[in-house]
Amino acid sequence: MVDIRLARIEDAPAIARIHVAVWQSAYRQLMQEELIDQVTVEAREEMWTDILTAYADTHPVIVAEDFGVGICGFGNAGPLRGEALLGYSGEFKTLYLLPTYQRRGIGSQMLSRLATHLVERGHTSAAAWVVATNPACGFFEAMGGAILAQREADEEGDELTDIAYGWTDLPALIRRGA
Ligand SMILES: CC(C)(COP(=O)(O)OP(=O)(O)OC[C@H]1O[C@@H](n2cnc3c(N)ncnc32)[C@H](O)[C@@H]1OP(=O)(O)O)[C@@H](O)C(=O)NCCC(=O)NCCS
Repeated sequence: MVDIRLARIEDAPAIARIHVAVWQSAYRQLMQEELIDQVTVEAREEMWTDILTAYADTHPVIVAEDFGVGICGFGNAGPLRGEALLGYSGEFKTLYLLPTYQRRGIGSQMLSRLATHLVERGHTSAAAWVVATNPACGFFEAMGGAILAQREADEEGDELTDIAYGWTDLPALIRRGA
């Protein structure tokens, strides 16, 4: 049975391992090899430890935990960063599940839970930037995300074209994953 809960500081090593494993499996076909291999578990553990300590109030992190097995996915949200998408205040920043846990409805429940945490922090809308060639675009579309903008490769030093999806009715998104 998979449970979704707020992450604790001691989850940082597991989150880092999953971050790198899913990054390597999902993004290897989307971007250059050297960019994939630059991402290390050590650097990710430092980053997640920082988010779980210094930014815990504004940047909720959740994990999906398979009882008796361990953490199988994570996600986080917070205030929208970067260029403003007019009218959107929150952002779904990451949502990663190990491949064997994908397509079982867990990601839908996790996005819904992150929406709950954004609403609790005063957000009424949220966006997510996704690599345009990532099959996960199908997930964000299935979750009712409206296409808001496209950020072309090489703008802001990015190697890939990204699409922004947006939700203005977070309670509806919460109900969708319930
Ligand atoms: C994106 C991700 C979190 C989705 O989680 P998930 O648990 O697999 O998604 P769900 O099972 O809740 O899917 C809900 C619906 O979304 C759609 N969907 C999900 N994954 C899809 C895909 N790869 N392609 C097309 N549609 C997809 C489907 O309509 C699905 O319903 P169905 O399975 O009944 O057809 C997961 O696939 C993942 O971890 N991907 C790798 C990391 C990544 O790219 N994350 C996104 C950027 S941060």
